[in-house]
Amino acid sequence: MYNEKVEELLNEVKNIFLSVKDKTELESLKQEYLSKNGKITQINSLIKEVPNEEKREFGMKVNEVKTYFNEEYERLNSEFELKAINEKLESERIDITLPGKKVKRGSKHPMSRIQEEFEDIFISMGYTIYDGPEIESDENCFQKLNLPKGHPARDAQDTFYLKDEYEKFLIRSQTSTAQVRAMEENKEKGPLRIVCPGKVYRRDEDATHSHQFMQIEGLVIDENVSMADLKGTLEVFCKKILGEKTQVRFRPSFFPFTEPSVEVDVTCFKCGGKGCSLCKQTGWIEVLGAGMVHPNVLEMSGYDSKKYQGFAFGTGMDRFAMFKYGIPDIRTIYGNDIRFLNQFDRKDNE
Ligand code: DAH
Repeated sequence: MYNEKVEELLNEVKNIFLSVKDKTELESLKQEYLSKNGKITQINSLIKEVPNEEKREFGMKVNEVKTYFNEEYERLNSEFELKAINEKLESERIDITLPGKKVKRGSKHPMSRIQEEFEDIFISMGYTIYDGPEIESDENCFQKLNLPKGHPARDAQDTFYLKDEYEKFLIRSQTSTAQVRAMEENKEKGPLRIVCPGKVYRRDEDATHSHQFMQIEGLVIDENVSMADLKGTLEVFCKKILGEKTQVRFRPSFFPFTEPSVEVDVTCFKCGGKGCSLCKQTGWIEVLGAGMVHPNVLEMSGYDSKKYQGFAFGTGMDRFAMFKYGIPDIRTIYGNDIRFLNQFDRKDNE
């Protein structure tokens, strides 16, 4: 009777394994047959009741069921695991023939572009790039450039003073302030040859003026420096940046930190000097201020003005960018409109 029961169980087990579909079903079978109250466990516990002469056969048969169950369990278990791995491999397969995701490429800002052009030209002439801070003292920005308090030439640049620091600190209104810093930092008080590009700030706002714009300042100090050196330098520079056909003209002018001072005009880039709306029919466009460094300026920063002379020049880089790239309104340069900036993509070699 007992042996028949085991026999039945073996058949049941054989049948049940035929229809197992997945790992979950397999696990619940294990529960059903081999757990504490499982069918195989329970039948095994009947051994106590089995008459002695049948015990041996009964035990063997129960073992047979157990072995069968375990073997089938292992076989199906590894089958399901393999299937799962294959499915995972299939679903995670990378199709290397699919097109890649496009990486958005930025473009260089027109002001970075023009600044690099300026720097390259001056580096090729032996200058070093000098970097000055945008927050500057009144002393460096004006007083040591021969613009004492109350000087009328301050008016155009008397602008963004820092709160609670009125007449002490401001955001610089001209890169000329780099002249003072470079001279003061040079402890030997010897020759200097620097250009300082950077942002400056003034109380201005229209199509050709912005409250923030970019200048570049140049300063050369040495023995026997003359106006001829200044002229030659600026002529070479203007031709390099605006084209070899460009002509340069010097007009007498006034700046407190240079004596004599000049304003520098170039032939109009649009009409070549014939006269057009851009140059207001004059054929010329003013681009630079320059001059021989005033002896007072040299002396105030510790230089011996009997031994050393210098020339200085300053210009707005935005104007050059506007002319070179045909930008009609300076405010677009600082507007950060992607549609404007995108136009400068891939223009490096043009
Ligand atoms: N700093 C002057 C300005 O912002 C430009 C300038 C004029 C710079 C003459 C110079 C110079 O170095 O010599 O208008």
